[in-house]
Amino acid sequence: MFKDYPKAIVTKDGESVLLRPVKPEDEKALNEFFSEIPDDEQWFLREKLDDPEVLHDCLQKLNYRRTLPIVAVREKDGKIIANLRLHLSMARCIEHVAHLRVMVHPDFRSLKIGSWMILDCVKTAMDMGLEKLFAEFIAGVEDAAIGAALKLDFRHEGVLKDYIKDKHGGYRDLIIMSRDLQSKWSDF
Ligand SMILES: CC(C)(COP(=O)(O)OP(=O)(O)OC[C@H]1O[C@@H](n2cnc3c(N)ncnc32)[C@H](O)[C@@H]1OP(=O)(O)O)[C@@H](O)C(=O)NCCC(=O)NCCS
Repeated sequence: MFKDYPKAIVTKDGESVLLRPVKPEDEKALNEFFSEIPDDEQWFLREKLDDPEVLHDCLQKLNYRRTLPIVAVREKDGKIIANLRLHLSMARCIEHVAHLRVMVHPDFRSLKIGSWMILDCVKTAMDMGLEKLFAEFIAGVEDAAIGAALKLDFRHEGVLKDYIKDKHGGYRDLIIMSRDLQSKWSDF
């Protein structure tokens, strides 16, 4: 599954970046990455990976058949500048679908890193034989991500009204988007 990694990309501003699966040794760099995500955004993380203990636990139990975590690493100094997680299920009835989440470090947004990572994830998912990818977005908070997803052929699938609470107790809708995966990479 990982034979193609690391993959080299170049950001819009010319920085060399490698995409590769997360390893337990990434703990320090990942702690740094999550600690630099602004408080307002950390509130909306669905997996508390900004908590060093949760992150440590997660890295000790890496199981790429359940969660495939990919990081974007700046080549010149090893800094992690983006993180994507593809969540898979081992239940037979939903093993054909996966959910993805992506977070780009605020200082490195709008440089096409998110687009590269999602495209790479689409290819990996196709290579794994998956049929459909899902992603969830918080209305009014992750609108930039919705724009990015639409450009990468995701479409609206549904809305869970008031599914999310912000830190002031206000409710927000969760927008579900999906992307069908072609059976052959050449169809893409
Ligand atoms: C959404 C996110 C992943 C996009 O990654 P990115 O590397 O910054 O985005 P890209 O440079 O690849 O841009 C792709 C598209 O996203 C949209 N976009 C990116 N930054 C944007 C911004 N600040 N405002 C509005 N739209 C924006 C645009 O449609 C853009 O396409 P364009 O450059 O042709 O206009 C990133 O902004 C992020 O991590 N946001 C916070 C976490 C989040 O919302 N995660 C999504 C949940 S799955």
